[in-house]
Parts: sequence; structure tokens; C-alpha cells
Amino acid sequence: MDLLTRDEIEAKLDRLLAFLNPLRSLLNAHVNSFFTDDHWQLIPAAWKEKLSVLSEEELTLLPSGKLDLEWLQNISELSLPRKNRAIGTPVKEIKGFAMSSKKKHEIEIFASLINEISKAKEIRQIVEAGSGRGYLSQTLASDERVRVLAIEGSSQKTKSGKERETLLERKQKKSKLDNHKTITHWITNETTDFLADINEDEFLDADEAVGLVGLHACGSLSSSLQEIYLSSKSIRCLCYVGCCYHLDEKFPLSSHLKRKRIKMSRNERMIAQSAPDKDNYPSLSLFYRAVLEVFLRDRLGVGEIERTKYRVGKLYRRVDSFPDYVFGALDRPCQFSRDDVTRFYEDFEPLKKRLEIFCQIQSAFGPCLESLILMDRLLHLLESHDVVRATILPVFDSKISPRNQAIISWKSY
Ligand SMILES: C[S@@+](CC[C@H](N)C(=O)[O-])C[C@H]1O[C@@H](n2cnc3c(N)ncnc32)[C@H](O)[C@@H]1O
Repeated sequence: MDLLTRDEIEAKLDRLLAFLNPLRSLLNAHVNSFFTDDHWQLIPAAWKEKLSVLSEEELTLLPSGKLDLEWLQNISELSLPRKNRAIGTPVKEIKGFAMSSKKKHEIEIFASLINEISKAKEIRQIVEAGSGRGYLSQTLASDERVRVLAIEGSSQKTKSGKERETLLERKQKKSKLDNHKTITHWITNETTDFLADINEDEFLDADEAVGLVGLHACGSLSSSLQEIYLSSKSIRCLCYVGCCYHLDEKFPLSSHLKRKRIKMSRNERMIAQSAPDKDNYPSLSLFYRAVLEVFLRDRLGVGEIERTKYRVGKLYRRVDSFPDYVFGALDRPCQFSRDDVTRFYEDFEPLKKRLEIFCQIQSAFGPCLESLILMDRLLHLLESHDVVRATILPVFDSKISPRNQAIISWKSY
């Protein structure tokens, strides 16, 4: 994304909302209630007509926008670009703590990006929020010029990160990574002085500028990072990639969208989490789950109010038939035989493609909904007088790591 002004981002958000608003009931609809609430009727008739004749292979291409449909063109024009241009620097593996190929891809690119920004902005102290097992912070600390403080909310992950650090020190034949430290601390924005909270032993020099970074800062950690960055004088740069939007209820952040009273449902935030470039197709269990909702209502007399009568649990094993799904998912036996359940299912089987079309349409809107969240965050930064630049950059290959948009910002002082 080019460096856009505040006015330009507001205009982009307004265009995006004008496109999305007439479709909000379709985007708010949950797949589980596809049959019980008749979500098929929420899809515009012209879309249904075109999509119903497509094969499974063609429908697989729908979320990535590779089909020739006008509304897909709109999605592509109104969403943030997802193709990455960043190139990473190879990182060394530690035996016993090998990264997945996805993690390696992310660390190689993100560490290079942060190195570049910190060199350009003369930042020699970095705080990583939500550091997990320390892959990023330890890679950053291999540059002895910088001090890196890794903060992780889970003590188990901190422990694992410290074990990895010990192996790394052994490999580098160092007694200690003096410029790296990990602490267990749960970050919130309810603090008057974030740096004082995390720097009790003065590992960081209080007079030096700090860069705040996060890789897949999940849920509300992302919005906390924005608030902390804006409220701290010492934090001069921010660079993070978010994830798990459904867990972050802090939307919108910008005054522009707050004034318009824009809200996003949990379902929309879930769709924003989709992986449109991975050529996925809805699983059979999604269909089973939606049919089970009708079975619960029509055969077992379970309505919204009596949800506790039968609880639907998570099925951890693969099932090959609807009866197996029903008997496996319900937390107690029901009076129906396998044949009864099979007969019930047969009425729905011809409607399976409808549910698949619905899921693929929702997934196609993932980039728009993610862009709504991210452009709101960007605008929130640009609404501050202290911020001189803020931008969004697709950093990872979206087929490898779908949450690939980095928010990067720096201040004027
Ligand atoms: C998706 S993981 C990413 C971990 C690591 N950055 C990586 O890429 O390997 C997010 C991490 O952030 C931590 N986390 C989430 N919210 C947090 C918070 N508010 N304060 C501290 N840590 C948090 C979680 O425990 C988890 O380890």
C-alpha cells in the first residue's frame, strides 16, 4: 500500500463500507444456521444463478477472486493488496527447536524488515510483545547492536523460549545472550506507563528510543499495542502483524468509524480470518453440522432456549457418515435409530452445494473484512498528531501465512 494520507484512508473506508453494507446480513449469517435460518435466501439471485452451475474445482477458486465475476472484481479493488514483495534473510535452526516451514518463512522476512526499520530509524532497543517461544526476539538479538526484551503472557511458552535460548547460546559459544531477555507478563492497555511496568530491572535504557514489535499479536494484543505505542513517548516505531481478529472486540479504533457507529459481528471477524489464497473447499463436517441443527430442532425438539438438553461437542475424529456424526457429536444417546437419521439426512443431501456456495462467498469477502479492520487500525494511528507515517505492507506469502499484513508506523520525534 502506498503511503496514504488520513483523508485518503477515510475515503477508502467509506467506499468499502458502501459496498459491504447491503451485504451485512449475508456476512453476519453463521454457517451452522444455514438451513434453520434459510441463509440461501440472503444470497443475491444473480450470484446464485451463476455459482450454481460451477464445478467444485471452479468454486474452490472463488475466495481467491480468480473467477470472472463483477462483485469479485469489487472485492479485489476495495481490499488491501495481499501479494508480498518482501525478501527474507535465512535464519539458522536450533536442533530440538526446529521451526515449521511457515514459522521460518515468517521469521526470515519479519526479522529482516525490523532490522531495516531499526537501522533507518536508529532504534537500538526492541520490545517484542507476545514472543511465544522466542523465535523472532532471539533472531533479532543476533545483531549485537540491539537490545531485545521479549514479553510473553504464558509462563509455559516463556520457559520453552528460555530453553531455546540456552541452546542458542551453546551453539553460538556464548555464555549468555546479554542483549536478550524474556519476561512473563500479560500486556493490557490499562497501564499508565508500559515501559516502567516491563523494565523494573532496567534492562532497557530509559533514555533511549524503543521499537515495539509483534508477530501474530493475537486478539486484543494488537489493539493494546496500538494504544501503548500512541501513549508512550519513548516508543518511536511500531511494526506488527495481527491475527485472531474474532478474539478482539475492540473495533473500531478510529474516531472516523466510531462517529459512524460501525460495528462488526463475531461472524464477520471470523470471515476476516479466512485464508482466501489457499484454495480451500468447505469440509463435509460443516454440512453435517448445519444439518444437525435442523435435526436438533425438528426431531429432538431442541430450540435456542433449551440448548442444554443436548450439547453438541467437538468431534475429534473423522467421521464418514451423518449418523456417525450425530451419535458422536451429541453428549447423550437419542431415541432415533441409524436408519431414521440416514433418512432424515437424505432430504438434505441435494442441498449440500448450496451450503458450499454460501461458505465460498463468505470466504471471498475475507479480504474486504480484514481490510476494514486493518484500515481502521491504520487510521487510528494517523489520527494521532505524534505519528508521522503509518502504512500496511503484505510481508509474507499469503499461501504460506495468510495473516500477512504488517502495520508499520513511526513518530515525528
Ligand atoms: C500467535 S502466538 C505468536 C507467537 C510468536 N510471536 C510467534 O510468532 O511464534 C501469540 C502469542 O502471544 C501471546 N499473547 C497473546 N496475548 C498476549 C498478551 N496480552 N500479553 C502477552 N502475551 C500475549 C500468546 O500467549 C502467544 O504466545
